[in-house]
Amino acid sequence: MTTQDRTVRQYRIASIPGDGIGPEVVDVSRVVLDGVSRQEGFSIDWEEHPWGSAFYRATGEMMPGDGLDLLSGTDAIFFGAVGDPGLSDALTLWGLLIPIRREFDQYINLRPVRYVPGLRTPLHNAAGIDLMIVRENSEGEYSEIGGRFAAGTPFEFATQEAIFSRRGVSRVVEYAADLAHRRSGKVTSATKSNGIIHTMTFWDEIAGEVAEQHTNLEWRSVLIDALSAELVLRPQSHDVIVCSNLFGDILSDLASATIGSLGIAASGNINPAGDTPSMFESVHGSAPDIAGKGIANPFAQLGSGVMMLEHLGEHHAAERIRTAMDALVASGETTPDIGGSLRTGEVQDALLRELGI
Ligand code: NAI
Ligand code: MG
Repeated sequence: MTTQDRTVRQYRIASIPGDGIGPEVVDVSRVVLDGVSRQEGFSIDWEEHPWGSAFYRATGEMMPGDGLDLLSGTDAIFFGAVGDPGLSDALTLWGLLIPIRREFDQYINLRPVRYVPGLRTPLHNAAGIDLMIVRENSEGEYSEIGGRFAAGTPFEFATQEAIFSRRGVSRVVEYAADLAHRRSGKVTSATKSNGIIHTMTFWDEIAGEVAEQHTNLEWRSVLIDALSAELVLRPQSHDVIVCSNLFGDILSDLASATIGSLGIAASGNINPAGDTPSMFESVHGSAPDIAGKGIANPFAQLGSGVMMLEHLGEHHAAERIRTAMDALVASGETTPDIGGSLRTGEVQDALLRELGI
C-alpha cells in the first residue's frame, strides 16, 4: 500500500480497458470504485492506457515500447480484456497480457468461486460453494522449452518440457497455506503423481514440507481427475485449492462453471512480495459477440476490482461492493447472461443506488 499522507490514502492504478467489452465493464467498475473510495476516505488516481487491438492497428504494437515501465511504479493494474476477431490471439495476448504477468512476476493466479443465492447454476447442489483456487502462474506445464524433430516426416515428433522449480512450487504452496489461515483452514493440493512421476512427485514432496510447517491446517492431496469429479459432486468439501499452471487453468474454469456464468468470474494475478504491481482482471475475454450492445455483465470486472481493493488493504470498501453485488443477484437486477433483463448501464445505476452513491 502506498500512503502518501496520513489522512488521505491514495492509490495509483493503471487502467487498461483493452478490447471488446473490456472498456464497457471497466467503465462501470471505475464509477463504482470511485464512488466508494470517496465514501471510504481514499482516492484512486487512474492512469489510463488505451492499449490493445485498436492501438495495434494504429501503431503496430499492442502497447508502447516503454509500456511496462509506465506500469512499474503503480500500486496495481486494472485490466479489462484483450482479443480481436481480426487478429491472432498469439499476437494480442502475448503482446500485452502475458508480458505484464511475466515482467512483474505475478506468480499467483487467484480465482475465487463463490455461490451467491439467486444465481442460476447447472448444479442443483451449488449452495455453499466457496472456493479459492490458487494457480501457479509462472512455470509448470506452460513453458517455452521444447520443439519439433524430423518435421514433415513420418517420424515427426514434438516435445514440451514442464518446469517445476523448488522455489516456484514452494512459494505457491506457501501462499495457499497463508490464505487458508485466513479462511477455513483447509487446503487441497491437486496432484497427479501416480501418472506424472517426476514433476508431480516433486510437487507432492514440497507440498508435504510446507504442510509440516502448518500442522494446524487440514491438508489433502487429491489426484486431479478425482478432484474434478469432487468439484461437481461435493464442491463444498473444498476451500483453498492449490494447483500447477495447467491443472489450475482447467480446474478454475470447471469450478466457475459450477456456479453459472463467465460474466461473474473475477481474478487476480498477484506478486505477493508487493515489489511489483499485481494485476486484477475479469476471467472472461473481449466477448466480440456482445461488444457494443450494452448488455455486458460488469460483475466479473467489478469483482476483480473488489479483489484489488483487498490487495490494497481496503477491506471495508471491498466488502461493501461485494454485498451490493450479492444483493442485485438476489433481487434479479442483473444482465441477461445471469438471468436478469437489465442493461450494463442499468446495473451500474442499481449498484450506485445500493451503495448510496
Ligand atoms: P469470452 O469470454 O470473450 O466469451 C465467451 C462467451 O461468454 C461469449 O458468448 C460472451 O458473450 C460471454 N461473456 C463473456 N463475458 C461476458 C460478460 N461480461 N457478460 C456477458 N456475457 C459474457 O471468450 P471467447 O469468445 O472465447 O474469446 C473472445 C476473445 O477474448 C478471444 O480473442 C480470446 O482470445 C480473448 N480472451 C481474452 C482473455 C483475457 O483478456 N484475459 C481471456 C479469454 C479470452
Ligand atoms: Mg479479462
